[in-house]
Amino acid sequence: MQDFAGKTGFVTGGASGIGFALCRALLEAGMNVVLADIEAAALDRAAADLAVHGERLRVVQCDVARRESVAAARDAAIGHFGSIHVLCNNAGVGTGGRIDTVSPAAWSWLMGVNLMGVIHGLGEFLPHMKAHGETGHIVNTGSMAGMNGFRGMGPYCASKAAVVSLTEALAGELAGTALGASVLCPGAVNTEFYESRRNAPASVPPPPPNSREGRAAAAGTKLTMDHGIPPAEAAARVLAGIRDDDLYIFTHPQMRGMIDDRYARLSAGFDKAAAFGSG
Ligand SMILES: NC(=O)c1ccc[n+]([C@@H]2O[C@H](COP(=O)([O-])OP(=O)(O)OC[C@H]3O[C@@H](n4cnc5c(N)ncnc54)[C@H](O)[C@@H]3O)[C@@H](O)[C@H]2O)c1
Repeated sequence: MQDFAGKTGFVTGGASGIGFALCRALLEAGMNVVLADIEAAALDRAAADLAVHGERLRVVQCDVARRESVAAARDAAIGHFGSIHVLCNNAGVGTGGRIDTVSPAAWSWLMGVNLMGVIHGLGEFLPHMKAHGETGHIVNTGSMAGMNGFRGMGPYCASKAAVVSLTEALAGELAGTALGASVLCPGAVNTEFYESRRNAPASVPPPPPNSREGRAAAAGTKLTMDHGIPPAEAAARVLAGIRDDDLYIFTHPQMRGMIDDRYARLSAGFDKAAAFGSG
């Protein structure tokens, strides 16, 4: 997709961090934007911060974990702007802790937002985007954590690996159509991500003490992503990735070695299979 001006984008998790930067970048590229988020106060702040864009911005409260909420936000967006051309399934949350210490409620919350949120977005928007026939693009926010499994981050890695796979399948299904698909896989970005429990249901217990969040909570310190790249940098990569129809949008070239190591481990598994005489 090359031309942004006059088209419309829908961004989930748009009130903070990467999503907010994406909304700003799409607006600055001349698009209409529907900024969707679960957090009412953050929506108000975002609307005020982007007020310069006037009628081209709409905000809507939406919980991506609930299909009916996504459907209602889609109806509102289409009702206001007509066709949606760029869908950013970006809302995401994190919870840490070793796999056997993570509560069922925390698993459900994390998977509900990070994976089902993307699935709900695709289920509700794709039929509309296919039907209007204009060029468009879908960006699902994954993570470098979806490209490798890190100890202490099992639930998050599993959710993001699923988003990567889902986007690979989606790109295959959209090949030859007017729509493209990308998965954004950032390393650390300086956002409010480590405060994502602010949006957790009351049923989600406090973070396990062996997690980074748990240790920070015990010490009474606020976790930040201060050493991450600015969200605007990730957003700029996304716009370039949409223009080039890139399946993978990376932001941290220095993390390539991690992928090379993983590939070497996978390859070694096949070497063993070959030596075993199978296949
Ligand atoms: N910050 C990083 O280092 C980093 C790295 C890799 C991937 N990511 C991913 O980037 C995406 C954006 O995260 P961020 O870093 O900007 O964090 P953030 O916390 O600053 O922003 C996330 C936004 O999602 C919203 N949200 C949470 N639950 C929601 C729900 N159920 N429905 C709708 N909105 C909801 C929050 O209110 C918030 O505005 C996430 O998918 C995250 O997993 C972040």
